[in-house]
Amino acid sequence: MSEYPVRTEHLGKTYSSWFSSRATEALADLTIEVPEGSVFGFLGPNGAGKTTTINMLIGLLKPTRGQAWLMGRSPMDGQAREHVGYMPEVPTVYPHMTAVEFLDMMGQLSHIETTRLKARIDEVISEVGLKGKENIPSIEFSKGMKQRLELAQAILAEPKLLILDEPFSGLDPIGRKDIRDLIVRYNKERKITVFFSSHILADTEIMCDWVGILNHGKLEALGMLEELLEVQNIEISGKNLRPEGMMFIEKMGDHTVKNGDVFSIFLKPNTATERVEQLFHKYGASDVKVKKHCKSLEEFFLQTVKDASLSKDEEAAETT
Ligand SMILES: Nc1ncnc2c1ncn2[C@@H]1O[C@H](COP(=O)(O)OP(=O)(O)OP(=O)(O)O)[C@@H](O)[C@H]1O
Ligand SMILES: [Mg+2]
Repeated sequence: MSEYPVRTEHLGKTYSSWFSSRATEALADLTIEVPEGSVFGFLGPNGAGKTTTINMLIGLLKPTRGQAWLMGRSPMDGQAREHVGYMPEVPTVYPHMTAVEFLDMMGQLSHIETTRLKARIDEVISEVGLKGKENIPSIEFSKGMKQRLELAQAILAEPKLLILDEPFSGLDPIGRKDIRDLIVRYNKERKITVFFSSHILADTEIMCDWVGILNHGKLEALGMLEELLEVQNIEISGKNLRPEGMMFIEKMGDHTVKNGDVFSIFLKPNTATERVEQLFHKYGASDVKVKKHCKSLEEFFLQTVKDASLSKDEEAAETT
């Protein structure tokens, strides 16, 4: 049995209904392993199959094909779900309950002992930024406040694994940063593994160490973020490089930039950068810096989805 917090093998889902002959393949064949202690960003355009996957992971939906495991157990196994905090895509908070009442109900369902539950409710309400709003019926909450309350219930029982479906939707930039920081803190300090779906690539890039990109139900990219966003070029810069050094060094790279007394050269990733760095020092440069420039996650995501669509078009053209 796998001890990965989340693992899937050839997981697939085709929706079909008794009143229509139309079947939708929402997830084709997903095989992933989410390492313990990681933050895994599950990305994909609208309709890619993210929520379908998450619903199968938490046992809300039965797979058509393949299998999923949570902590090495079936998602249908109550013991596996005990350790999982789940935040749905659409908040399920009861409109006439206050935040405290909702969390109290969720805590009792998770069998949290009464004294601990009271302290924990206070704690999570502060952590998600709902202090002062905890006794208002949630019908009066904004979308972002409901989202915060939904996250509060997910972390309430101090799970080992957090599964979050679009945790940033409905949040303003300050809210997004608060929630991002909270998720990262739970990951780093409490060693909680996080698996989340999102469209917000900037937040994902800051938080994640693993990324999977889904498109039309197919996994198009999977890996550690730093490996996927491979180094595009390396910049070496220094102040007050002597002119003869500039003339010599500029032949060694793609292009150079001079900005005041700072001279920079951009090199291909496989260039012997140590040699160029030595030359900066040899020709009198001070404050010599080496910086790796990588693709942004947005660039990588857009390229991956575009490539996937092109190959789908090619396949379609070949079969007609
Ligand atoms: N209950 C359902 N019955 C039939 N088809 C469905 C059902 N739920 C989802 N689908 C279809 O499955 C595909 C994947 O949907 P899913 O909700 O998993 O995507 P998603 O990646 O979460 O999208 P979004 O980013 O918009 O939340 C879509 O084509 C969708 O129309
Ligand atoms: Mg979704």
